[in-house]
Amino acid sequence: MQKALGNFVLILSIVFAACNNTETKNAATSDSTTVDSSASQLPSAKNFENLIDGKQTALYILKNGNMQVLVTNYGARVVSIIVPDKNDKPTDVALGYASVQPYAEGGDTYFGAIVGRYGNRIAKGKFKLNGKEYMLATNNGVNSLHGGNKGFSRVVWDAQQTSDSSVTLTYVSKSGEEGYPGNLTSKVTYIVGKNNQLKINYEATTDSATVLNLTNHTYFNLNGQGSGTINDHLVMINASTYTPVDSTLIPTGKIEPVKGTPFDFTIATAIGSRVNDSSNTQIKYGRGYDHNFVLNTKGNINEKAAEVVGDESGIVMDVYTTQPGLQFYGGNFMDGSHTLKGGKKDDHRNAFCMETQHYPDSPNQPNFPSTELKPGEKYSSTTIYSFSVKQ
Ligand code: GAL
Repeated sequence: MQKALGNFVLILSIVFAACNNTETKNAATSDSTTVDSSASQLPSAKNFENLIDGKQTALYILKNGNMQVLVTNYGARVVSIIVPDKNDKPTDVALGYASVQPYAEGGDTYFGAIVGRYGNRIAKGKFKLNGKEYMLATNNGVNSLHGGNKGFSRVVWDAQQTSDSSVTLTYVSKSGEEGYPGNLTSKVTYIVGKNNQLKINYEATTDSATVLNLTNHTYFNLNGQGSGTINDHLVMINASTYTPVDSTLIPTGKIEPVKGTPFDFTIATAIGSRVNDSSNTQIKYGRGYDHNFVLNTKGNINEKAAEVVGDESGIVMDVYTTQPGLQFYGGNFMDGSHTLKGGKKDDHRNAFCMETQHYPDSPNQPNFPSTELKPGEKYSSTTIYSFSVKQ
């Protein structure tokens, strides 16, 4: 135990030392060192220095105690989350790339990204606000997904590292961008707190009425990214109801009980135990789990919204949020076509997302909580991913 802890500290020191060269203000600029653990897959800060759309990209290193989180301002993305496993081995539980280019090239997987202006789908890319119809970029069949062609995940945010453990990213989305009304300023702050917590604060203001649904799209594998299937992870979601979808993954508008369905995660259950239940139409439509759960917590951040346990690592992730919903996505569209940090592929169902959010397609669903933001109002929400271990 002592030795393992010693190794852990040593490894972190090497990585921190390697990343501590701050040539560019606030951003890490040096190569990380190769060490023999999953933390050796940590990307080099240099590989994130680039000019994209005329703006500087970089890697920001946040640390507190035994936890380290790497963030890039390209898409305000979480690149790595390193926490100790049950043997104190530093384990990177977030999927990501070793450099900034793959995030910008090819089809977007949304690895680690802040998605916006509207996380998840808006039916046929249309909605009405104050009597006026808006037409959005449609990038997912007939629907608009995760903000459109670039959304907030393929733009360079302005970043300011405010301390060793926090960074604030700002993006101004112009009125008309991807079809949305209103000049919208969004601010996202990542804070690595004591006791292995990653806290994400979201804020936004607009100069004319718009709709907004910001979330984080980190793909987690609690056994370590690139370590294989997540189907043996145990999941608990504190939700008695969910929002079923049509075949294009747009909510039908109904809110239905999870009881007696593969969507009942009120008691911790292995993801894989019901994921292939082909007799369930919702599982068929989602190709597995890709659904919004209506949280019993109703925005109370002090109550646990979800808990996931890595079957091999013993790493536990608890989710707390002010949001009313949680999109549980089981990596059904992952197909091994991307190479992750450390050289492994993003194979089918090798990661899951817990996207805290408002419900998909809310602007077209009068019985869902409103996602409208008016001028003079301040949007704010908080989500905490809290890590611990079970022996
Ligand atoms: C999820 C969404 C999935 C899929 C995925 C990205 O948030 O619910 O349907 O689009 O993002 O591949």
